[in-house]
Amino acid sequence: MSKLRLKIRKAIETDLHDIVSVWKRNIKTINTASDIADLFHSFEKYFFVAVYTDTADTKRFEDEEKVIGFVGGTIRSGQGHISGIAVDKEYRMKGVGKLLLKVVSAEFLADGLDIVTLEARKSDTSAIRFYEKQGYKRSYIVKKYYADGEDAIVHEKKI
Ligand SMILES: CC(C)(COP(=O)(O)OP(=O)(O)OC[C@H]1O[C@@H](n2cnc3c(N)ncnc32)[C@H](O)[C@@H]1OP(=O)(O)O)[C@@H](O)C(=O)NCCC(=O)NCCS
Repeated sequence: MSKLRLKIRKAIETDLHDIVSVWKRNIKTINTASDIADLFHSFEKYFFVAVYTDTADTKRFEDEEKVIGFVGGTIRSGQGHISGIAVDKEYRMKGVGKLLLKVVSAEFLADGLDIVTLEARKSDTSAIRFYEKQGYKRSYIVKKYYADGEDAIVHEKKI
């Protein structure tokens, strides 16, 4: 018998490979693994992962962790910024994304950063609905922000 348990924890170097995989699987981006690694190394304390732990009742093996989501926070223009957030498809709509935003926001706030910004693709109504449910408000549009020419809607929240 085994029991699945969800945990949100700080990301560490050995999570980087999984973060890149989750990022590239779920987010339409031109960011390369090396771009993501650069962000991670500059802002490691604002990166968190959501992991499922398969707690086996035999103690012979280490508990197995599976990274199913992440949030990558950064600091931009002196404010907290969400550079990437994703949860693997089969684990969505269970409150994981909300928890990830909550923990990174608490980390920003602890560092005196009480405004958090993020960009969303203009066409990405799912992500926009998710962010707005978490209290993010539309701030302004950046024309052709994305490499494929799509506009970004910058959102902002006072935490
Ligand atoms: C956006 C994303 C991270 C949300 O993760 P999630 O774990 O499914 O979100 P949660 O289950 O925590 O949802 C939190 C709230 O947002 C709502 N929500 C989540 N996804 C939604 C969607 N697609 N449409 C409408 N509402 C949505 C939930 O209903 C929930 O509402 P509640 O607080 O009233 O219960 C996830 O859908 C994802 O990885 N998408 C692909 C990557 C992406 O778009 N990233 C953001 C742009 S970089």
